[in-house]
Amino acid sequence: MRTIVWDDDRDCVAMVDQTLLPAEYTTYHAETVADLVESIEVLRVRGAPALGAAGAYGVALAARRNDAASYDEFATAVRDDAERVAEARPTAVNLAREVEVVLDELDEAETIAAARDATLERAKAIADEDVARNRAIGEHGATLLEDGQTVMTHCNAGALATVDWGTALGVVYSAHEAGSSVDVIANETRPLNQGSRITTTELLEHDVETTLIPDNASGLCMQEGRVDAVVVGADRIVLDGGEAFGEQGVVFNKIGTYKHAVVADRHDVPFVVAAPTSTIDPDSTADEVEIERRDPAELREIYGSQNAPTDVDVYNPAFDATPMELVDYVVTERGVFEPPLDRAAVLGDEGQPTP
Ligand code: MRU
Repeated sequence: MRTIVWDDDRDCVAMVDQTLLPAEYTTYHAETVADLVESIEVLRVRGAPALGAAGAYGVALAARRNDAASYDEFATAVRDDAERVAEARPTAVNLAREVEVVLDELDEAETIAAARDATLERAKAIADEDVARNRAIGEHGATLLEDGQTVMTHCNAGALATVDWGTALGVVYSAHEAGSSVDVIANETRPLNQGSRITTTELLEHDVETTLIPDNASGLCMQEGRVDAVVVGADRIVLDGGEAFGEQGVVFNKIGTYKHAVVADRHDVPFVVAAPTSTIDPDSTADEVEIERRDPAELREIYGSQNAPTDVDVYNPAFDATPMELVDYVVTERGVFEPPLDRAAVLGDEGQPTP
């Protein structure tokens, strides 16, 4: 099954429940907008492109659950619900972007029935488009790798972070399809362990030779020459780093990415960011991007057991900012780009991601 789909029989959103991996591979049905918002908050569905699809389906779900008497009332209520979906997590730009794209259908439709159909059709198209983009990212990115090489990755930027195939892991899968056997070192990715729970699970399913390491071991692995490239995904790429990060822009990705980029730079290991253009936010500067801070309980406890004094202060940012100066290649569905990124080259003449 794809990571997230529309279940036509139950007329709701269905997703792989990623909170239960690797112990259980089950499908969760979000029957209401509240279910969907909660699923995004607890990371039942996660990863920037998958969140984009969740946002898109969220608007369709809002439209199908709404029984307003007039079109105006209907549209207002759907927009309110859509806002709650878009705000469920702040950092990955795909979530709010795809919500906006699907909301545009409300301006075109003239009846509630037409709006229900149009939003769902648009959401399904966005999900299909994500898979096509990831396939293209994989093919472009695979040209950077050679048979027998080892890639380090952080968090999960695989099939389960997208509708299917993945971005960073899509590069690995495409390399395999092209006949290059590429191994992966997967960082555990504390505190929610997307690397150990999700990345290793899907890599083994794809028959990719995989080694799990604690996050703290990435420096040693690079020092020992075990890593030929670091390939990660992105939650948001801005082209203007603002005052703090410099002119070349910033890649926002899972907390820890920056540290791996610094070490990769030190050891001349190519640092590759694989992401669809829908993850590029050309209109924000780095200081305008909100880095999500998550619940202290994620550090004070581990799987329900106490991990720290219950009253210790906790700082738990979910993402960090890697200046583009540390990135060697950005791979999108449009090709492989070497920073500094030229806006028109990366996004086309419009200078905006295509919906
Ligand atoms: O908190 P998460 O699990 O949603 O974070 C996901 C990441 O940081 C991924 O690397 C990113 O979204 C890219 S997914 C293709």
